[in-house]
Amino acid sequence: MTNVNISFHDIYNTCKDDYYDIIYGLIKSKQKTLSPKYFYDENGSSLFDKITNLDDYYPTKKEIEILEKQNEEFYNILPANSSVIEFGSGSNKKIKKLLNALDKPNEYIPIDISREFLFKNAKDSAKSFPNLRIKAVCADFDQINDIEEIISTKNSKIGFFPGSTIGNYSPECAKNLLKKFAKILGENNFLIVGVDLKKNIKILEKAYNDSEGVTARFNKNILNGINKISGAIFKEENFSHRAFFNKKKSRIEMHLVSKKKQTVEIFKEIVSFKEGETIHTESSYKYSIENFKKLAESANFDLIKVLTDKRSFFGIFFLKVKSF
Ligand code: SAH
Ligand code: AVI
Repeated sequence: MTNVNISFHDIYNTCKDDYYDIIYGLIKSKQKTLSPKYFYDENGSSLFDKITNLDDYYPTKKEIEILEKQNEEFYNILPANSSVIEFGSGSNKKIKKLLNALDKPNEYIPIDISREFLFKNAKDSAKSFPNLRIKAVCADFDQINDIEEIISTKNSKIGFFPGSTIGNYSPECAKNLLKKFAKILGENNFLIVGVDLKKNIKILEKAYNDSEGVTARFNKNILNGINKISGAIFKEENFSHRAFFNKKKSRIEMHLVSKKKQTVEIFKEIVSFKEGETIHTESSYKYSIENFKKLAESANFDLIKVLTDKRSFFGIFFLKVKSF
């Protein structure tokens, strides 16, 4: 059976904000930075997918283990006939497990900025779930004014935010993002968030310095993303990958290290690099259960349940939007 009930909504445009964001990050701030959202062009999304299959990168495997093994207690809490909204959907491995376990889900709305990857995966989901309405939305989930109307529905809503993408935000920004999600999900609706937990530093650092060098390729690919948006010519071969755990901030930091003194023109401005100077491309915060509970509560959610894998490497938090 073919699914005719799939629609595509493309409302993501790189805009003035991206221009300011990139210029501010590369020129105006002391530590050069880029937002990790620029990793995800089609190549970046496939590289991330490869990362999720690496032995060294445990988060995806652990999250799937939780989704598979604790089905009943996990899903009984959630309402039937709901609209499931996935923020930063990526590949559809995890959503399949959730949709299969939910009671008569009504609609699935994957939201992602990685256009081609999103649409390809949405078509795939449509094949797997021929009776489900699917609305694929290419948008920045941070810009809730853009997506509010598209996801409005009379059904109960279940937000799904897996992969520890929340960890790519500083705790302050994570709180603001969760508040936005609470607002668009609405009172008494649920958000299921995957969160990477604190653990042995060696395990953490290995996950971001894999022996096959895929994470290094993923990190360098951000330069291609920036080149496409800005017309700049950053050369991957002039940078090397560095990732380490910053204990004080409880986060993995990924950087690109300039191999030499160099300049790059971008948006008619010049970015100068000293040899060894870095661009901070990603932070990946690691939480304790208690700290993430506090964060969620400060963002207008009640914590209903946390599930972890056997070794407590990863946590899935069931949150419910409080009354406003
Ligand atoms: N949910 C998947 C993918 C996680 S990778 C998983 O659990 O494996 C992060 C995903 O979020 C990528 O697909 C990326 O394209 C998307 N993403 C990152 N920042 C985004 C933003 N601001 N708005 C929309 N999607 C975003
Ligand atoms: C999507 N995000 C949560 C991943 C992470 O672990 O921070 C991206 C990633 N970066 C390097 N490896 C994977």
